[in-house]
Amino acid sequence: MTFPSWFMFGAATAAYQIEGAWDVSDKSESIWDRLLHTQPSLVVDHSNGDEACYSYDFWARDVEMAHELGLQMYRFSISWPRLLPTGFPNKISMNGKSYYSKLIDGLLKKGIQPVVTMYHWDLPQSLQDLGGWTNPLIATWFADYARVLYTLFGDRVKYWITINEPLTICDGGYNKMAAPYLNDMKISNYLCSKHVLLAHAKAFRAYEEFRKGYRGKISMANIFFWFEPLDPQKDKEATQLAMQLWEGRFGHPIYSKTGGWPPELERYIAGLSVSEGYNQSRLPPFTPEEIQLIRGSYDFYGLNHFTTRLVRKATPKTAGDWPFYGSKELGVSFVNHPKRRTIVIDWFQIYPEGLRKQLHWIKDNYEVKDIMITENGLPMLRLDFADYDRVDYIREYLKQVLLAINDGVHVMGYIVWSLMDSFEWITGYKVKYGLYEVNFESDYRLRNARESAKYYRKVIKSRSLNVL
Ligand code: NOJ
Repeated sequence: MTFPSWFMFGAATAAYQIEGAWDVSDKSESIWDRLLHTQPSLVVDHSNGDEACYSYDFWARDVEMAHELGLQMYRFSISWPRLLPTGFPNKISMNGKSYYSKLIDGLLKKGIQPVVTMYHWDLPQSLQDLGGWTNPLIATWFADYARVLYTLFGDRVKYWITINEPLTICDGGYNKMAAPYLNDMKISNYLCSKHVLLAHAKAFRAYEEFRKGYRGKISMANIFFWFEPLDPQKDKEATQLAMQLWEGRFGHPIYSKTGGWPPELERYIAGLSVSEGYNQSRLPPFTPEEIQLIRGSYDFYGLNHFTTRLVRKATPKTAGDWPFYGSKELGVSFVNHPKRRTIVIDWFQIYPEGLRKQLHWIKDNYEVKDIMITENGLPMLRLDFADYDRVDYIREYLKQVLLAINDGVHVMGYIVWSLMDSFEWITGYKVKYGLYEVNFESDYRLRNARESAKYYRKVIKSRSLNVL
């Protein structure tokens, strides 16, 4: 039960969820700023990320916490509108640049590798006004932004994540779950899917000019719920298709041998589109050049894993549309396992073995050699420090990571979501993921270690799960 010497431990956050300072200096508005300033009631507690954890001011405390834990990696994201207020490289914010520079240097001084997400959902509103992720030009805009990042920080950042959870961006964003909070799960979500992949690939290819000098690694972070059939026979096909819609849509074009959309999914949506009276598939095709551009655009697989769901075949009419966006498209429903524990959110079931199965699935289905777990963590409602459920969750999920490593799956590292409590999107500040509790009443947003932080620290120090 000990971790190999090369295995790295980390914790994560994201800009909009922690930084605050939404309008300081020349930062421009992001789509989350616009959404929650105009429709505050979308969030359960009517809160937003205007102030959040004040990490814009208290970043040094964040570095100190990462150091206290003994992390080898700290994953955070850069706010595109903070660095490039127009969305384009014609204007680089000096304050934005110096903020991220200080954070990166602060981490490196403590021997912690920054793992930098380029896009964690806070698109400049000015680009949304031009169509956002449904405009094909966004792929070039994103690559231009990425080039700025490599130029400013590439000498110090060795791990880059281009885009966090394309599924949430495209299906959440066009199914009224996330900014830009639009409602079109027929066309926009698939245009977005294609453009997110092209944006990722162009940013990856742009790194080639820098790679020789900097030798960093780049990938995307894909959300991937592990799915199992409710009835092993009757629901098997529906489960496989669900895997392709949720994971394969973004995984197959990048990591498979052949590239392009997963063939079963492509056939399915094309057939559905014809039956609905469209002349073409709603899932826009790739050109052969695009397939080649995207295929192989990775140095590792970035996996955000939280839970496992059971899939049941339904009809588009009877399929529920939440918690998993797009289930009506396939005519599938998700149900809870009667024996697994459900916690805080009605679809969040604890099933650590699901992570090991998923790691195997990636190894078996793709050409991938290295996998990084870019997020894994437990939501809780507790305000206090006794988060023993989170201690158990981390221990049990890490155990499955070790078992997978022993099976021969190369997992490079594991990143807990999250370093601290933060703005949890439409569930506001109610749902807490932090190893550190944040006191949102205090002007200093004081952060204090929970039991899970103490436990994680011991695991990291001993590189073993056998700690008390
Ligand atoms: C995924 C997202 O990347 C992150 O922003 C979010 O807070 C966690 N999951 C928990 O929902």
